[in-house]
Amino acid sequence: MVAIIGAMDEEIAELLQGMEAVDVRRAGPVEARVGRMDGRPVAVLKSGVGKVNAALAVQAVIDHLRPQALLFLGVAGALDPALEIGDLVVAEDALQHDVDATPLGFRPGEIPFEPVSVFPADPRLIRRAMTAAEALFGRRPAVGRVLSGDRFVADREMVKALRERFGGLCVEMEGAAAAQVAHKNGVPFLLIRTISDRADGAAPADFPAFLKEAAGRSAALARAIVRSAEEFEHAF
Ligand code: ADE
Repeated sequence: MVAIIGAMDEEIAELLQGMEAVDVRRAGPVEARVGRMDGRPVAVLKSGVGKVNAALAVQAVIDHLRPQALLFLGVAGALDPALEIGDLVVAEDALQHDVDATPLGFRPGEIPFEPVSVFPADPRLIRRAMTAAEALFGRRPAVGRVLSGDRFVADREMVKALRERFGGLCVEMEGAAAAQVAHKNGVPFLLIRTISDRADGAAPADFPAFLKEAAGRSAALARAIVRSAEEFEHAF
């Protein structure tokens, strides 16, 4: 079974519409919709916004539903100026830009005393996402680093600083935390984001208008990945 998680209702709405035989399953502190999507077993759930909510939802779903793979999806603010609103980004890896123990001699984003601070997505799932996106949209998503932190980025100086410090494609508020938990549990992980804003001052005003459409693209891609994934055909 594949678990698909989004932070907000808008980010999972389209996925829920595409599900059949839906059953509500409590997974510790979160509630999952378990059923089938194009015949494949899936669990879809909302984590809530931010790194703590993301980490908690991923651990809960792993503990209670034992998924073979985890897809986290939603929208993000662009850091790379080459990205347009509506573009898809597939994370090659993700880090937490707001982890800062530099006064102790650690690098920006480095989690003290942990072996890993940059969490890779599963290469097979990335390849599958590329193929599915090409078939669906006629072009490949950008692949690279996604930055996560507990703040909505809405200023140009911050965008510049994040780019210089970490070199990411986009910024959001959950992915690296979800990736860290998946990594610690050894569960294959994929992070898909659609660009909803440029993380500048215009972001909050544009945000609601773009949210639904932007979220729809990553949801469509997640659905295509699930459809193509025979190895997830597993009872749960
Ligand atoms: N999600 C979508 N846009 C974002 C932004 N600008 N900052 C953080 N998370 C986001």
